[in-house]
Amino acid sequence: MFRTHTCGELNLQYAGQTVTLAGWVQRIRKMGGMTFVDLRDRYGITQLVFSDDANAELCEKANALGREYVVQATGLVSERTSKNANLSTGDIEILVNDFTILNSAKTPPFTIEDNTDGGDDLRMRYRYLDLRRNTVKKNLELRHQMAFETRKYLNDNGFLEIETPVLIGSTPEGARDFVVPSRMNPGQFYALPQSPQTFKQLLMVSGFDRYFQIVKCFRDEDLRADRQPEFTQIDCEMSFVEQEDVIQMFEGLSKHLFKSIKGIELGDLPRITWHDAMKYYGSDKPDTRFEMKFVEIDDIVKGYGFSVFDNAAYVGGICAKGAATYTRKQLDALTEFVKRPQIGAKGMVYARVEADGNVKSSVDKFYSQEVLQQVKAAFNAEPGDLILILSGDNANKTRKQLCELRLEMGSQLGLRPTDKYSCLWVVDFPLLEWDDETERFYAMHHPFTAPKPEDIPLLDTDPGKVRANAYDMVINGVEVGGGSIRIHDSALQQKMFAILGFTPERAQEQFGFLMNAFTYGAPPHGGLAYGLDRYVSLFAELDSIRDCIAFPKNNSGRDVMIDAPSFLEDSQLDELFLKTVAPK
Ligand code: AMO
Repeated sequence: MFRTHTCGELNLQYAGQTVTLAGWVQRIRKMGGMTFVDLRDRYGITQLVFSDDANAELCEKANALGREYVVQATGLVSERTSKNANLSTGDIEILVNDFTILNSAKTPPFTIEDNTDGGDDLRMRYRYLDLRRNTVKKNLELRHQMAFETRKYLNDNGFLEIETPVLIGSTPEGARDFVVPSRMNPGQFYALPQSPQTFKQLLMVSGFDRYFQIVKCFRDEDLRADRQPEFTQIDCEMSFVEQEDVIQMFEGLSKHLFKSIKGIELGDLPRITWHDAMKYYGSDKPDTRFEMKFVEIDDIVKGYGFSVFDNAAYVGGICAKGAATYTRKQLDALTEFVKRPQIGAKGMVYARVEADGNVKSSVDKFYSQEVLQQVKAAFNAEPGDLILILSGDNANKTRKQLCELRLEMGSQLGLRPTDKYSCLWVVDFPLLEWDDETERFYAMHHPFTAPKPEDIPLLDTDPGKVRANAYDMVINGVEVGGGSIRIHDSALQQKMFAILGFTPERAQEQFGFLMNAFTYGAPPHGGLAYGLDRYVSLFAELDSIRDCIAFPKNNSGRDVMIDAPSFLEDSQLDELFLKTVAPK
């Protein structure tokens, strides 16, 4: 046997037994005639002891070990004199009587410790070494558990896992596609799926009424902390369902994950309409770990000669409980924060509620105490609270700015702890989104999303007002999942394509396969996809999804370890009928 035990399992119960372990050298310490080696594997660390007195030759060999050497050691499990309460194996050590160096190792470019000295770039270049670190490794263990529990729940509920193709056709909606040239079809390209959306709908037409797939998706979009060009969805679809059935099923999956992985009983999730989410949080993915809802005060503050408010389309703010102690310097910093180009506010008005209940504001010269008291009442503000107000000539833009300010205040006041979870559904999304630049409607979710039946007449009169049977699950301000009831009627689907600016010919060319399929008996259906990476990163309390992916891309979409993407040889390009763009 190569090893009898792992480096994480031995304790006093094993004292007196001879064991063989294998692993990597984490640390070597020499003390007098003794050498201590910490041996590490996936399961933990066990201390090996070599004594000059007992076996000088072996001890000398141990002294020559370097960090990350791979060794196999046999010895006696014995009780330690100085125990280490931080290690599960901290009560014992192995008195080594035989050991083999299985492989030597160069000194790693950074320390393989929880708190490493390696910077981001270096760790990404040597990701296989980074993955030896406990902090990163445990994220992958968590990911495995979550994927496993997901499969268990969905299997128990009758879902079939069915694979769909990765080489598919390009579609014009959504993000940009990654494309793959086809050697056998000169000048033609496959696209990698942004999601298996159309295929899962076709599977419903085929009669597989409960489908799921834990599946890679690809989107060529600008990267952020919660976006990777390739990421994983828990993709699901069901037939003969209404929105409520889908929500219940996947709320059930969330409850199962929280319970089985985190030991948390979720309870029934609250729901908020998209309209209210925008009104009270300025975001369709509100962080509801804390209140601080928006209050609109146009009615109260207009007409007193303060032109900034008088001319605004929106005046609203938030009340930060207990933050009246904010100094002028802190308030100036907040003003600078909202004025940064990424946020774009023109300025910020503040009002402190003092101990005696009076309100002291940055616009006192325009407003009497009487009006300021009305503001205070609108915010339900109490002595010690700080009211922060933004205004602007575009209500939605101002709400988005206020959203950033709210999140910033939430962070500054410690109201967004990563180990507290607040989940909710955002429902009743608009079906369509108008784009001023291209002067056309875009599907807010995707073009297969069904309008609410009662709103269908509005498609002809006021399409922007049509609400969709679409829903997102949001946890701590992160959109972890989204889905909808689909259109299963080919005439309605054609109408939708027309509203989205497709000529009948284009719609036929792009989506003919789906519309044709719908003419052969499509059942009513709907579904949802969770972003697995985002879900894991929330459970792992990470800021970015990168550290729960074994081999992620950096912010420029590069894999710096294998150095991809890369240029192709001219001969490869020729074979694909592509012109070279590589620098000569
Ligand atoms: P949607 O586009 O909302 O829906 O995606 C579903 C979920 O996938 C995750 N996600 C991402 N995660 C990491 N990096 C990305 N670039 C990225 N993009 C999306 C999010 C998101 O909620 N076919 C539909 C689902 C459906 O209607 O059933 C779809 O793809 O967590």
